[in-house]
Amino acid sequence: MKVFITRIISQSGIQILKNAGIEFVQWTEKRDLPQDELIAICKDYDALISVGQDPINKVFLNASKHLKVIAQMAVGFDNIDVSEATKLKMPIGNTPGVLSSATADTAFLLMLAVSRKAFYLYKKIIKGEWGFYEPTANLGIELHGKTLGIYGLGKIGFELAARCRNAFNMDIIYCNRNPNLLAEQELDATKVSFEDLLAQSDVLSVHTALTAETKGKFNIAAFSKMKMTSIFINTARGAIHNETDLIKALNEKMIWGAGLDVTNPEPMDRDNPLLYMPNVAVLPHIGSATEETRSAMARLAAENIVAASKGERLPHVVNPQVYEK
Ligand code: GLV
Repeated sequence: MKVFITRIISQSGIQILKNAGIEFVQWTEKRDLPQDELIAICKDYDALISVGQDPINKVFLNASKHLKVIAQMAVGFDNIDVSEATKLKMPIGNTPGVLSSATADTAFLLMLAVSRKAFYLYKKIIKGEWGFYEPTANLGIELHGKTLGIYGLGKIGFELAARCRNAFNMDIIYCNRNPNLLAEQELDATKVSFEDLLAQSDVLSVHTALTAETKGKFNIAAFSKMKMTSIFINTARGAIHNETDLIKALNEKMIWGAGLDVTNPEPMDRDNPLLYMPNVAVLPHIGSATEETRSAMARLAAENIVAASKGERLPHVVNPQVYEK
């Protein structure tokens, strides 16, 4: 089997491919591959390790039907037309679980950074604007005993809720299609309606996949129902919030602040007004970006490739329907 990898990945993954005798090439240029180029390259390969930026849509899939597997090195796979891949009997893999802790850390970091205006104040120091001490200036808000609302409480949301419960004794509410019994038992989490999530959260953190249902879910109608003192956090996908509406909600003080690890588009334009607001913190999609987690993600992606090379079921498969007779 010959694998094309659209990025340079951690050695842990490379070593697994080497040990299995799998040939591979990593794309080393620092630019996204446009679809036609990716299609042309993939003609010479049997398998692909992709990332969330790669356009694995209908056109790509139908032009690359020969691929035996696509192993996405991410937990999210909204860049992949999974139903088309399933029609083509092509297994799609992802890297669930291993990035939950690091991504929850990023949400926690953003929550704290926003609550104390940390990024904004750091920029003031750099600009020589520390200024003189004013007891009523640079004030943030505290998190202790507040209510954390999670939109989409799965593994990542659970990790964030546990941190908030342990660090700040926060109350946990969540909005899911199905109840999360573990969170209810261990964190005393309460399932609420979307309306109640908006109305009751002091910090509202998004941890759902991007789907037709969640796209643009946090729009002006949603922000207008949130507390004026609330903080909105998104470490999931930028398209789940409407950016124009978020800017308006912040400008008009419908909500207090926002922390974003994901934007729409990515990268965010350097002139984006969100980057200059005191109560906003933005990071360049680094949710899973730790040595440990990226190494684990590379390992899982490589394991998926190795399984496919042996004609076995992927250990981390997104569309198990391809194995149904
Ligand atoms: C990152 O955004 C991921 O989906 O793994």
